Amino acid sequence: MRLCLWPGFHRRLFCLCIVLIRGFFRPPVTLVSLKLEVYAQKETCSEELNVERLVSKSLQKVVLSSSIGQSVKPNSTNSTKLELIWGSSMYHIDDLPFSCNSLPDVYTQFRKSVESKSKVRSCIKIPTSLGPAPSIKDWGCIPEITVLGLEKAKVSKGLAFVGGESAAVSRVCEYFWTKNLLRTYKETRNGMLGPDYSTKFSPWLASGSLSPRFIYEEVKRFERERESNDSTYWVLFELIWRDYFRFLSIKQGNSIFHAGGPRKVEANWSQNPTLFDAWRNGQTGYPLIDANMKELLTTGFMSNRGRQIVCSFLVRDMNIDWRMGAEWFETCLLDYDPCSNYGNWTYGAGVGNDPREDRYFSIPKQAQNYDPEGEFVAYWLPQLRVLPKEKRHFPGLLYIKPVVALKFGNTKTTNNKTMGSGTRTTADENRWKGRKGNRTQ
Ligand SMILES: *[C@@H]1O[C@H](CO)[C@@H](O)[C@H](O)[C@H]1NC(C)=O
Ligand SMILES: *[C@@H]1O[C@H](CO)[C@@H](O)[C@H](O)[C@H]1NC(C)=O
Ligand SMILES: *[C@@H]1O[C@H](CO)[C@@H](O)[C@H](O)[C@H]1NC(C)=O
Ligand SMILES: *[C@@H]1O[C@H](CO)[C@@H](O)[C@H](O)[C@H]1NC(C)=O
Ligand SMILES: *[C@@H]1O[C@H](CO)[C@@H](O)[C@H](O)[C@H]1NC(C)=O
Ligand SMILES: *[C@@H]1O[C@H](CO)[C@@H](O)[C@H](O)[C@H]1NC(C)=O
Repeated sequence: MRLCLWPGFHRRLFCLCIVLIRGFFRPPVTLVSLKLEVYAQKETCSEELNVERLVSKSLQKVVLSSSIGQSVKPNSTNSTKLELIWGSSMYHIDDLPFSCNSLPDVYTQFRKSVESKSKVRSCIKIPTSLGPAPSIKDWGCIPEITVLGLEKAKVSKGLAFVGGESAAVSRVCEYFWTKNLLRTYKETRNGMLGPDYSTKFSPWLASGSLSPRFIYEEVKRFERERESNDSTYWVLFELIWRDYFRFLSIKQGNSIFHAGGPRKVEANWSQNPTLFDAWRNGQTGYPLIDANMKELLTTGFMSNRGRQIVCSFLVRDMNIDWRMGAEWFETCLLDYDPCSNYGNWTYGAGVGNDPREDRYFSIPKQAQNYDPEGEFVAYWLPQLRVLPKEKRHFPGLLYIKPVVALKFGNTKTTNNKTMGSGTRTTADENRWKGRKGNRTQ
């Protein structure tokens, strides 16, 4: 039952369904036949592993109704089984050139290693038939969104996410082939406004409606049939990050949920509720932060650029416990998955396993580079629309008073080597430098 992404559903509702499924059956459970074999994708983090155990235990108590009507109590040989299958990653866990416990601590090393030593398996062909559907009298029903006391939010600039595999495949087709956007992905992916600056595959990937192996095949086909350049490669590059976080979650276990992270960093984080509320409600007084947080709250999505900026602000400028930020993302994101979410946050908070990471994102600089016209902030904060473009990011008295001062000031040139102690460089550069590297194919 892939309830979580149901065709035609409004995003708020599938957000809710994900919660339900996390509570009860996540990982997504598929009923294959009345013989009751239950298949699910293998998970890696502790809460999800616990759900696997609970489902497995409950299945042992399931009473089957055989075709002739009598009840069959399953026993050791005929009991219902939960079959857990590895999925979700682009490279299969069995095809890695190392065991998860000896996973390289640096992404680039991981990437180069899998690119040269592993192969991406091809997609499994869809069976022509799954046989007749089981006759179930009452499937139950899925409530209308209004029943849940929710309203549809009107968002004109963004992707209207629709759940389900068909919608997922359509989006791949649209982004790659119809709109021909794959060839410019690398240049546009750091945008913040509109449906097409990036692929927006993540909610479907997270819910299992879209396979990274299918994306891989489509990228390869695009490269054969249209063109191949850094942009086409970059989609795979990002999917390898996703794999990396998933495998890291096995290696690092629960440390990705601890304040000190995998590196056991000692720090005195604040848990100031006033500052935290200002952050999550988009009322910090910094339009770039506020616009991103309003987008997250309204749509369940935020650009990758935005996620890094608001993380840096919470952690570095507000000194708030990064786990509160991670948990808020977990609450809101349509594309939430524990490995990528907590993996990214440990990196952003500087407690991840790469000690070189120390990522400060300067708001003035980010604003200048990624929203120079103030279009993004004016979209989410309508009160800024009347202002001239150059004032929108720092509207002064015309906007909420900033709740904290920026750690490195408000000047546009915070990228000063002397601002941090010795080893600290502008994190932004740092990260993207680390992400570059030669293509090995
Ligand atoms: C399992 O149940 C079947 C029928 O319900 C019974 O015939 C069989 O002996 C049982 N097997 C075991 C190992 O208990
Ligand atoms: C298991 O179930 C099948 C189908 O109902 C039955 O034919 C078979 O005898 C059962 N096996 C055992 C060991 O109970
Ligand atoms: C890829 O090719 C397209 C079309 O030729 C071009 O516009 C784009 O800039 C290229 N991107 C990269 C990253 O090389
Ligand atoms: C988080 O991780 C994913 C990989 O799962 C990556 O594509 C994305 O860029 C990361 N986001 C941030 C904000 O770092
Ligand atoms: C945290 O605060 C305690 C008490 O004020 C102090 O002793 C300790 O050195 C601080 N630790 C760090 C890493 O700043
Ligand atoms: C960078 O720091 C140095 C040393 O403090 C200072 O002299 C210089 O003016 C700063 N540069 C900028 C652009 O802020």
